[in-house]
Amino acid sequence: MEKAKLTYNGMTHEMPVLVGTEGEKGIDISKLRQVMNLITLDVGYQNTGSCTSSITFIDGDLGILRYRGIPIEELAENGSFSEVAYLLIYGNLPNKAEQQLFSQRLTQNSMIHEEMMRFFDGFPPTAHPMAILATMVNSMSVYYTDYFTEDFQADTFDLMAASLISRIRTIAAYSYKHSIGHPHVYPKRDLKYASNFLYMMFDSPVNPYVPDPDIERALSILLILHADHEQNCSTSTVRLVGSSMANLYASICAGICALWGPLHGGANQKVIEMLDEINKKNLSIKNCIDSAKDKNSKFRLFGFGHRVYKNYDPRAKILKQYCETIFKKYYYDDPLLAIAMELEEAALKDSFFIERKLYPNVDFYSGILYRMIGIPTNMFTVMFAIGRLPGMIAQWKEMHDSVPHKIGRPRQIYTGSNLRHYVPLDER
Ligand code: ACO
Repeated sequence: MEKAKLTYNGMTHEMPVLVGTEGEKGIDISKLRQVMNLITLDVGYQNTGSCTSSITFIDGDLGILRYRGIPIEELAENGSFSEVAYLLIYGNLPNKAEQQLFSQRLTQNSMIHEEMMRFFDGFPPTAHPMAILATMVNSMSVYYTDYFTEDFQADTFDLMAASLISRIRTIAAYSYKHSIGHPHVYPKRDLKYASNFLYMMFDSPVNPYVPDPDIERALSILLILHADHEQNCSTSTVRLVGSSMANLYASICAGICALWGPLHGGANQKVIEMLDEINKKNLSIKNCIDSAKDKNSKFRLFGFGHRVYKNYDPRAKILKQYCETIFKKYYYDDPLLAIAMELEEAALKDSFFIERKLYPNVDFYSGILYRMIGIPTNMFTVMFAIGRLPGMIAQWKEMHDSVPHKIGRPRQIYTGSNLRHYVPLDER
């Protein structure tokens, strides 16, 4: 095994260099504090691995993304969302019997407790759907208590995983119906995952939902592309919260909250708002690029840049091509697609973006496709959460099963006052 040496204050510490299956290397510093009384500081964890994982592989320089070894392009082309969910959680694509059992579990867990319906009435009509989603997912902890025990068993995990994957789409669709003042639509047992969601979103007594295989496929592809992305902000949150042995629902709720931020999953909503503003105000592309580069301006080009990808995000590549194909097929015209392409072209030619290796990320084109499907803009991040859920669950399970189990607890370098003493109020 290769070793790395650290010399400090006359002492030398040798640390093992771990090599991943794709050749990635990492120095194992786990004995550093014990031996040298030193910690490492890495704000934003730009160089820090928090775990070993066999779920998702990304090569950010080459623009590669694989789930359990299978390229994202193959899964998007051929897979269904439920089989990708199974692949992520259980490690392999399901055989027919496994697929049938998994689908059955999803169907049996698709309705939400009727008492939970009252929660929707408590939210103001302006409530952001991400706030509703996080609250409802956390409240599953009190309605589906028989699904988890202190003595955690594999079959209870299977039920919780299916319960979350299936019910999150019901919750999302009900929150939309509630926001527009329509009665909710119960899930249908004979519909596949994406179709069932669209049915619950768009069916109504006066306007029955008419299934469209292309639209249903578009949604499946979107969900598959979002299904996992190794140790990103929200997934790391799920692992960290879960490391305290918090239950799966509570851990996922925390991950959903982390996903909401505009630098992360919330970027898809911001992208469409940005493109919409350019369109409505007829802003020039050059001005947008200039503002994104201006350090005094708070404006960023949303949907651009990524901590890991220093090449084209493979998910954005698939989505861009898919938008072009499906738009042509439907003679659908969205001025925002043309603006997005113009913006991308201008940014990719600009030295600021070239030097910093800033490319479109998954959020740049996903919103345009969600718009075509009919999903309202404030629900885009909810769609991301539905897609990301299997990955979060898989990562939580991997963390939970790891031996030895360690609670996540980073260190810090304290920079506050040295010892000082309490001063009574009238002496201050
Ligand atoms: N627009 C303008 N400049 C940018 C952008 C952007 N979208 N992204 C990065 N930069 C610049 C930064 O200003 C910085 O410049 P500097 O070196 O002169 O200071 C440099 O590129 C590096 O950027 P960081 O913010 O340090 O990179 P980091 O890895 O920390 O952040 C992030 C990555 C958060 C994704 C960032 O690129 C960003 O804010 N993008 C816009 C929001 C977005 O699209 N988020 C979705 C990411 S994908 C996902 O989570 C699903």
